[in-house]
Amino acid sequence: MKSYYNRPIMASANTTVLTGIKPTGVPHIGNFLGAISPALRRAIDFEHAYFFIADYHALNSVDDPRSLRDLTYNVAATWLAAGLDPTKIHFYRQSDISEIFELETILNTVTPKGWMNKMHAYKAQSDRNKEANKSVDSNINMGLYTYPLLMASDILIFQSDTVPVGNDQVQHVEIARDIAQRFNKKYKTDALVLPQYVLEEGIEELPGIDGRKMSKSYGNTIPLFATRAEWEQSVRKIVTDSLTHTPETFRLTVLYKIFAAVASPESTERLVADFTEGTIGWKDAKDQLVEQLIERFGSASETYAKLMADKSQIDTILDKSSNEIRTKAQATLYAAKKAIGVR
Ligand code: ADP
Ligand code: TRP
Repeated sequence: MKSYYNRPIMASANTTVLTGIKPTGVPHIGNFLGAISPALRRAIDFEHAYFFIADYHALNSVDDPRSLRDLTYNVAATWLAAGLDPTKIHFYRQSDISEIFELETILNTVTPKGWMNKMHAYKAQSDRNKEANKSVDSNINMGLYTYPLLMASDILIFQSDTVPVGNDQVQHVEIARDIAQRFNKKYKTDALVLPQYVLEEGIEELPGIDGRKMSKSYGNTIPLFATRAEWEQSVRKIVTDSLTHTPETFRLTVLYKIFAAVASPESTERLVADFTEGTIGWKDAKDQLVEQLIERFGSASETYAKLMADKSQIDTILDKSSNEIRTKAQATLYAAKKAIGVR
């Protein structure tokens, strides 16, 4: 990891932050605490903020058209209900900005194939193939192989200088920077702005109801926006034990960790005291967690439900944003076209 890319970002005018969200699952409280909430807080520091739904990236894992459509609305409604203000943050669908894909075609021509071979998503899959004695590229589409090129184009089209990402995406932002640098050098231009990543530091990994990392792939999540009955249903399944707990051992339990991430420190300490003094048991502790979920996410859940009941509101917001920002995308594309000589 090249740490000099990661210099502290100061709140200053004229900086552009951009991040993409793949619509691959219905967001859970781990996503909110670890990603959505920190991203929204960070965006305030920037003059321009671009958050988009990376629907073409999601095509690599969601192949049912209905699921892709539904997940796109789920994810858009989640971010809006979580507080994304579309008058301050450009919020759009990747697939609506066709300039991204045209720029990607140009970037293809300055990107060595060898760089893509080293990208971890492709490498992981091709290594698995080798281990299983299959052909290296078995089950690998070009969509997976060129995933980082599309991501570079997402970033470069809006002249983003700052891209907040989790650990697994650092490599992709570095390659976007390298591609931009190669383009600018080859065509003696400054048409592309060099982006840098910032590591998004969310909360510690939140456990799911079975004690493993909360993740949609494990089916162990607590939904972010839900009804009382839905929250009760998942909270009821949180793993418990029949030990006699001290405050120290109670703080190691799954229920405690989830409670502490959702509730205030005061409510959490009260829970610890009540539970370890034997005033309440697991059932009461779970009931209290449901109340905390309602307190923290109940009113946003209503907003979410309203948006999902009238998806045209979501379409209007996403469409308006893409119309507003296309001029900037066109300007970058035009500069790149001029640099290469097709204009
Ligand atoms: P999932 O594991 O459910 O598929 P993703 O990998 O799509 O979630 O993660 C989306 C974002 O949410 C990432 O930035 C990640 O850091 C954050 N995130 C996911 N799960 C958790 C968790 N259990 N605790 C904290 N943050 C999480
Ligand atoms: N690849 C990112 C992920 O898996 C999503 C993404 C697509 C993205 N394009 C982006 C993130 C551009 C930041 C910038 O989470």
